[in-house]
Amino acid sequence: MDIDLLTLFPEMFAGPFDASIIKRARAAGIVTIRLHNIRDHAHDRHHVVDDTPYGGGDGMVMKPEPLFEAIESVRRPDSHVILLTPQGQVLDQAAVGRLARHPHVAIVCGRYEGVDERVSTAVDEELSIGDYVLSGGEPAAIVLVDAIVRLLPGAIGAEGGAAADSHASGLLEHPQYTRPAEFRGMKVPDVLLSGNHQEVHRWQRGEALKRTLERRPELLARAPLTAEDREILRGLGWAGAEAG
Ligand code: ADE
Repeated sequence: MDIDLLTLFPEMFAGPFDASIIKRARAAGIVTIRLHNIRDHAHDRHHVVDDTPYGGGDGMVMKPEPLFEAIESVRRPDSHVILLTPQGQVLDQAAVGRLARHPHVAIVCGRYEGVDERVSTAVDEELSIGDYVLSGGEPAAIVLVDAIVRLLPGAIGAEGGAAADSHASGLLEHPQYTRPAEFRGMKVPDVLLSGNHQEVHRWQRGEALKRTLERRPELLARAPLTAEDREILRGLGWAGAEAG
């Protein structure tokens, strides 16, 4: 996969893209990440990229010309261009899975108090990483690139890979433990020490359902649930069993 990042602050990406899974995926040729400075597409003497808003108000707005040009400089027939903004659709794992199938993703990082509305016509999609406001799209782009890259074939070597992650199943993940079997009086559940794989699996599924019901019940409406899952959830007091 090729990823192009359009930003006013390319230096913000040096650390995150040079460690761990993204670093390895880049070294293995699984992903190519290129950084582009939007300011290089401002042609006036001072390379101005923002201006005051029409209608007045605080703050500055990113001008359309440098953004359009920057997007056009990376766009190919197979591109999917994303604008990161708190006004976008909120990212979830299903959206990440969809994005990971594009051969080329270009990500535009907004800055200042906003981006000229006409830029929305130059992108394929506007995304937010959550209902809170960052100083710019750069930290959101780091989150988005990390979530995409770990889904690319070969990026995660371990068995199961990203398919076993929290949210991949539409549920939160079951609790995990490692040695020691007892730590400060807290014991690892007996079933995990039993060696009975079927029982372990059943326990893990039950815990994932229980945790999702307790912490994120709204996820259950869209999770693919078996008849047995529904039975378990009903036993836990889930009211949605009939509706689903
Ligand atoms: N820019 C500022 N806040 C953002 C958010 N929550 N998601 C994506 N881009 C942003």
